Amino acid sequence: LKGAAGAAATFTMAGCLGGGGGDTITIGSDIPYRPFEYETTEGELVGFDVDIAEAVFGEQLGYDYEFQKTSFDGIIPALNNGNFRVIMSAMTITEDRAEKIDFSDPYFTAYQTVVILNDSDIAAKEDLKGTTIGVQKGTTGASAADGLKEEFGGDLTIQRYDQITGAFDALRNNQVDAVVNDNTVNAEFVNQSDNVKFLEGSGAAEEQGKEAPPYLTLTVEEYGIGFRKDDDDLREEVNGAIATIKENGTYDEIYSEYFSG
Ligand code: ARG
Repeated sequence: LKGAAGAAATFTMAGCLGGGGGDTITIGSDIPYRPFEYETTEGELVGFDVDIAEAVFGEQLGYDYEFQKTSFDGIIPALNNGNFRVIMSAMTITEDRAEKIDFSDPYFTAYQTVVILNDSDIAAKEDLKGTTIGVQKGTTGASAADGLKEEFGGDLTIQRYDQITGAFDALRNNQVDAVVNDNTVNAEFVNQSDNVKFLEGSGAAEEQGKEAPPYLTLTVEEYGIGFRKDDDDLREEVNGAIATIKENGTYDEIYSEYFSG
């Protein structure tokens, strides 16, 4: 971890130092979001997005690149202000966001899901009425919670945290009754906690005919890499590289490192 001064810490990827050739692609990301982007106890940046970045920007396109920490709420204005060149932050492609930025082709499917404590009284989606839900600010999890609130005629309290870890801590400390967030990130949290589980039920995945995970899904989403609207050449290069790593087995290799089955 370099650049200790202030919030704009920069992770320089070891394999990419001193390459010299051409521009360095700076990648804005909100960290931690395990297993997509997070630091090991030694301060090394790792994760699915980090490996995909290495495959796409490093191996396929031959760029030097580095990750730059930024807050998720505000990541789009930061991209458009030129704070970094692209966004890789487990970011869902949405219509609202696509008005402000462009996205690569999708590279990952995700679902909004609900996690609760093992001894919770909440047993079905309807039981969330009247509860307090924790979310990360500016995320599709926050939008999904807004949707639930509407469904419950306003009878839902939403606590918004700057980072997902704030919401997870609040659940552990009984300050919220549930957390709404992306399924694989919730799965990691469930695996690392002995008293947290998914809320079960059938939902958006089944409705959309997707191979459904064994828990309630509120939405079906796809992640994309974000670009400024005037960055078409780079976006097309990246789309080509994503297609290549999906064809040549690199994507599957990275996938199986982080996700079993
Ligand atoms: N997929 C969700 C969204 O786009 C959550 C992303 C949060 N990412 C992160 N690195 N914190 O809103």
